[in-house]
Amino acid sequence: MRYLPLDQITDDMYLARPIFSGDGKVLLSNGVKLTQAYLARLKGMGYQHLYVYEEGEKATTFTAPISDQTMRDALHGVKESFFKAAQHQKLNLKQVSDVVNYILDEILTNPTVLYNLMDLKNHDNYYYLHSVNVSIISALIGKKLGLARDKVKELTTGALLHDIGMVCIDPNIIGQPRRLSDAEMAAVQEHTNFGFHLLRSARDLTVLVAHTAYQHHERMDGSGYPKGITDKDIHLYGKIVAVADSYETMTTGRVYQKALWSHEAIRQLQESAPEKYDPEVVAAMAASVALYPVGSVVVLNTNEEAVVVDVNAKKITIQFSSGPRINALLDLEPDSAIKIEERLS
Ligand SMILES: [Fe+2]
Repeated sequence: MRYLPLDQITDDMYLARPIFSGDGKVLLSNGVKLTQAYLARLKGMGYQHLYVYEEGEKATTFTAPISDQTMRDALHGVKESFFKAAQHQKLNLKQVSDVVNYILDEILTNPTVLYNLMDLKNHDNYYYLHSVNVSIISALIGKKLGLARDKVKELTTGALLHDIGMVCIDPNIIGQPRRLSDAEMAAVQEHTNFGFHLLRSARDLTVLVAHTAYQHHERMDGSGYPKGITDKDIHLYGKIVAVADSYETMTTGRVYQKALWSHEAIRQLQESAPEKYDPEVVAAMAASVALYPVGSVVVLNTNEEAVVVDVNAKKITIQFSSGPRINALLDLEPDSAIKIEERLS
């Protein structure tokens, strides 16, 4: 299974991971042959990459941080929360709490799980998938930092709803496929204030959930927004979601900004600490996220090419895709002589 850009996918390849709509419905299932018609439609919807396999390729399974069912429930829950907020209706907090519990049940019980997914966003599911991914990464960071389950739950709830204030921003501004003007940027930055008030008015949510949405764009040196507060005044949850949100955004890219690979985004975050990000939080994130996620095509120090087929906190399992060992599987542990040198796609 490889994670390939759409223009490298040919019509003799099959879909290796399902494609979900914004509200968690399966649009295309595993195993579907990717005809030119499907590929054209997916391109039109805004997909840039897919997980694919070729005919005759041995099917491999890997441990995603959350199951497909939980991903679907989470997408559905976020979409409904955003919809209700936009309609000035009360949030369904039972649904939000259930979704967060499903996520935590899977993440907290698996001691070696890493965030190893790559972006499958399109125009329609962008904010929902972004929110779910940021909540998964935040939960993993909270777990790594040793927070108790009730704290990780509060953090993950704030992370899941951190961008809910976006529903109050003019969609014509958000949808612009270009760098925003200063005035437009200032309007978008208001989403932190709107998010705070939306979540503060939900009586069953704690004030820290609202503060997580409020502070997720604050930076350690005071260069963030909305208040420009510094290190000591930013709550730990705000610092965690800042890192998770930045990582997720960097690895997705923008119209005007190329997506970074996971290992590049981690390096950039490490270089931006302690000025922008809390170094302890960045270290916890670096230990929670796969440097080379499943589906990465890599070159080894033996000059062979391989695909990452599974990864956890202890080892990376690769499958050779060139050379005499083609198709063989190998586990790379931290002290293995064979190392990944470069990522190709
Ligand atoms: Fe945001």
